[in-house]
Amino acid sequence: MILVTGATGNVGSEVVRHLVQQGERVRAFSRSGRVPEGAEGAEGFAGDLNSADSVTAALDGMSAVFLLPGYQEMPESLAAMRRSGVERVVLLSSSSIPVPGDRSNAVTRYMLESEDAVRASGLPWTFLRPVGFASNALQWKDQLAAGDVVRAPFAGVRTATIDPYDIGAVAALALRSAQHEGQAYALTGPEALLPADRVRILAEVLDRKLHFEPQPDGEARAEMTAQMPAEYVEAFFSFYVDGTLDESQVRPTVRELTGREPRTFREWAQSAGPQAFSPSGV
Ligand SMILES: NC(=O)c1ccc[n+]([C@@H]2O[C@H](COP(=O)([O-])OP(=O)(O)OC[C@H]3O[C@@H](n4cnc5c(N)ncnc54)[C@H](OP(=O)(O)O)[C@@H]3O)[C@@H](O)[C@H]2O)c1
Repeated sequence: MILVTGATGNVGSEVVRHLVQQGERVRAFSRSGRVPEGAEGAEGFAGDLNSADSVTAALDGMSAVFLLPGYQEMPESLAAMRRSGVERVVLLSSSSIPVPGDRSNAVTRYMLESEDAVRASGLPWTFLRPVGFASNALQWKDQLAAGDVVRAPFAGVRTATIDPYDIGAVAALALRSAQHEGQAYALTGPEALLPADRVRILAEVLDRKLHFEPQPDGEARAEMTAQMPAEYVEAFFSFYVDGTLDESQVRPTVRELTGREPRTFREWAQSAGPQAFSPSGV
């Protein structure tokens, strides 16, 4: 049986669906314990990733674990996995890792610390290092509910956004086979898009007249500061304003591993559908 943490999230729910469709037995771990839509047959498990005791309680009978980064007591949770006979761990990391050893950046640091903890555990591992997700467009949901203008930061930054569906597909491969052990996969979608491109595509898919407005850096900084710790605001400004992270390069990894092209932003938007952007939607 395979344990999937973050199982109700954008990525975790895709991991669960891919595994269930491939006939695997899955324990879907999140605080709510919900089984994601389209993954009937998976077993829901309510637990807290910040607690090694809580993770340990979910490990009975698990042969592989899909793990989210950045939670507390990770070394203890990984030690428990090793003791309980888990054979491999697939860690969701990020494209910010190849920034060479820059632990002064808070986002890079928490990803590096997570990778370090997995390496130190002695468990066989695979790291997934995706660029920004297509599903980050769901952050525009409130603006789309309020009107036709999307104001977003970092207007000049191109990202080859990846559909969580494709991260899930690669995760499922790595969870099911020893062939991917010791690999760190850089994962991207098929095209580098500006925020304005994503709004234009969204407008076409939703059949709405949407307009993109670049958010000035000062306004973006104030808004982000209200939502997250200052060190994360600095980390994102370093990535996208100082240009320390380039997520525009399209990589062949998804195609090479899955045998098909990664999904476009348009395909992500079509599968998310208008309900994902409606006030009562997911
Ligand atoms: N967004 C990006 O562009 C990007 C790029 C690279 C890497 N990442 C990494 O990818 C991760 C996952 O992204 P996502 O979009 O799939 O996230 P998401 O949609 O917010 O999902 C998070 C999942 O984790 C669960 N969760 C949260 N806190 C938990 C806790 N304390 N204990 C147990 N479960 C918990 C949530 O369910 P409950 O709320 O029910 O617990 C949910 O299932 C991010 O956190 C980030 O580290 C993101």
